[in-house]
Amino acid sequence: MTIQEYKVDFHESCSPHFSNDEIQSFWQWFNENLLIITDPTKAKNEYKKWLTELISGKPIQYIFGYSFFHKYCFHVSSDTLIPRPETEELCELILKENGNTSLIGIDIGTGSGCIPITLLSERSNWKFSAVDISEGALEIANINSKKYNLSDRLSFIHQNFLENSKRTNNYDIIVSNPPYIHPKERNNLESRVTQFEPHIALFVNQDILEFYTALFHFFENNTNPNAQLWMETHQDYCIDVMELFNTKFRAKKIEDLSKNPRFVYVLK
Ligand SMILES: C[S@@+](CC[C@H](N)C(=O)[O-])C[C@H]1O[C@@H](n2cnc3c(N)ncnc32)[C@H](O)[C@@H]1O
Repeated sequence: MTIQEYKVDFHESCSPHFSNDEIQSFWQWFNENLLIITDPTKAKNEYKKWLTELISGKPIQYIFGYSFFHKYCFHVSSDTLIPRPETEELCELILKENGNTSLIGIDIGTGSGCIPITLLSERSNWKFSAVDISEGALEIANINSKKYNLSDRLSFIHQNFLENSKRTNNYDIIVSNPPYIHPKERNNLESRVTQFEPHIALFVNQDILEFYTALFHFFENNTNPNAQLWMETHQDYCIDVMELFNTKFRAKKIEDLSKNPRFVYVLK
């Protein structure tokens, strides 16, 4: 099949399932990936497999194993969340607030590693550690770190952050986009999220503030004076997170581009 024939077939097959805008956007992914396969039989087989997956609702990023975030392209797998535009905004806010003065930081719940890899790619004097409970996610984050030549400035820690033993580190900056969806919201989420994205990345157990409380104590005990903490939150609980931190530190909430309260910035 020529690329034009694939395109026609793709539009016909997808039109009962997706809007025109979605079809155009998905076609770019298919086109790009078809063009790199030289064997026509393999191309046809792969095309059919991708199309079946797409129509089944699988996110395009999981079909092809990568996702765009900020200026970069990250490997993703079923062990990692697909990085979200709000998290790009979080990185932008951090970069806007901080120049290239040397900083030591940690990302809690790193997933694909999109946050520290973006920050370190933009700030050559920073170093980060990145924690995750998921070994599969850390493998992907490590691949991404190597891709952007950051292995000497980014180290990974396999750990359940909620069961942390007493630590005394001296971080200048902590960043986290922790799981923040209550299980009762599960039925309100799109099925492609609940069916394909790792639940450990999405859902808290029962206490919506569980991770933020752990972050509070971690921030209190493991940072330098004037340290910063940047968190992404659920829009409905952003104020609760801010109030938790305002009991001891200076915390402010920041809206995302859709005007939803989304981030909390804390200064020690
Ligand atoms: C919302 S995802 C964020 C991933 C990535 N930082 C991003 O923004 O795309 C939350 C991450 O926290 C990790 N996680 C969940 N529970 C954890 C725990 N108890 N300790 C450490 N990491 C945890 C998940 O595996 C997941 O990678």
